[in-house]
Amino acid sequence: MRIALFGAPGVGKGSQATFLSQNQGLEHISTGVILRSALRSGSDVGIEAKKYMDDSQLVPGHIVRVLAEEAITRNHYDHFVLDGYPRTIEQAEWLSEFLSEHEAMLQCVVNLVVSNEIIVGRLSQRRVHIETGENFHLEYKPPPSGIDPELIIQRKDDLPESIFRRLEVYQKQTHPLVDYYKDKNLMVEVDGVGTFEDVHARILSTIYNFAASE
Ligand code: AP5
Repeated sequence: MRIALFGAPGVGKGSQATFLSQNQGLEHISTGVILRSALRSGSDVGIEAKKYMDDSQLVPGHIVRVLAEEAITRNHYDHFVLDGYPRTIEQAEWLSEFLSEHEAMLQCVVNLVVSNEIIVGRLSQRRVHIETGENFHLEYKPPPSGIDPELIIQRKDDLPESIFRRLEVYQKQTHPLVDYYKDKNLMVEVDGVGTFEDVHARILSTIYNFAASE
């Protein structure tokens, strides 16, 4: 299975990709996670990306393209869920070209839909484990009590001003992909509101119904 999870910052792409990875055995490929790991390691890519991430802007496509293609290649072009890639029409074109070279076209793009009001609530209360990168939510998925509270941090781009900037960037640069993938008959919409488990079940049934209708 080769799918992409699509949607605004905070709709739940990372959380749902983790469920798909655990329950369906798909490799979770998140360009955000890869970039943050490059940043922590102090690599040239990380240093370059930091300038854009700190400013809540998209990292230049040529950087992200290489990282995404390396991850897909490592996974032998199959059994993956993309999270946060592609984010522009240009990236979508690159991805399509790359996957078609390996006869492994994307099978479905799941558009998670959640209102901006809910997104702001989710992102402003998200906390992350500094070492494992695991995501928590102060209300819906609080960090377990055994964890050293100093290891639980708030992402810089989850501060209120950054959240609004990321939503603007999404609207301008990423949202046009909705029509792009609808035109290609690849996009399915899933309501992202509800418990983690409800949304997961909705995604699974939507993907399988979509595959059966093809
Ligand atoms: P990235 O890390 O991908 O950030 P994002 O797309 O903005 O997405 P988020 O991680 O903020 O949210 P999410 O949708 O994964 O939601 P989550 O599951 O965590 O990218 C960061 C930066 O890297 C970008 O700004 C950019 O600079 C750069 N970048 C990355 N990819 C790039 C690309 N392709 N091109 C260029 N630049 C790129 O959930 C959010 C919170 O809500 C969590 O606390 C979670 O616990 C909670 N939650 C989730 N689902 C539910 C639910 N059903 N009920 C209750 N709470 C929930």
